[in-house]
Amino acid sequence: MRIAIASDHGGFSLKEDLRQYLKGEGHDVVDLGTDSEASVDYPIYGQKCAQYVVDGKADKGIVLCGTGIGISIAANKVKGARCALCTSETLAELAANHNAANLIALGGRTTSFDEAVTYIEKWLSTPFDGGERHVKRVNMLNEL
Ligand code: RB5
Repeated sequence: MRIAIASDHGGFSLKEDLRQYLKGEGHDVVDLGTDSEASVDYPIYGQKCAQYVVDGKADKGIVLCGTGIGISIAANKVKGARCALCTSETLAELAANHNAANLIALGGRTTSFDEAVTYIEKWLSTPFDGGERHVKRVNMLNEL
């Protein structure tokens, strides 16, 4: 799978670890920055990654900031982005199954590497439910 990943400085360290991990799992990982711990603005990176996914340049996207909150808000400003901030395996599963989340957000200061891997693997391996009510609601999201 082609996965785009981006973070601000608060998510940089976890992004680096996840990039290596995902590559090791055989994914084609596109790193959209940032490239250091120097302070940057998360809206830029959230927008960049979400646009990349919505444009079809990657299958899915992962965005990270200190908490995952700011960068998820930014990603969801892009029409067609469905970015879920995940803080548990259950949320990661339902983000895929009910919301067809094409991006997930994680907090670099609030989520361990092991937790992040668990959430990502659950999100990637869970299919969209495909039921009529979920399709209808996802279509409604896409129109917002
Ligand atoms: C940056 O210090 C921090 O505010 C940012 O990474 C994020 O947590 C915002 O939601």
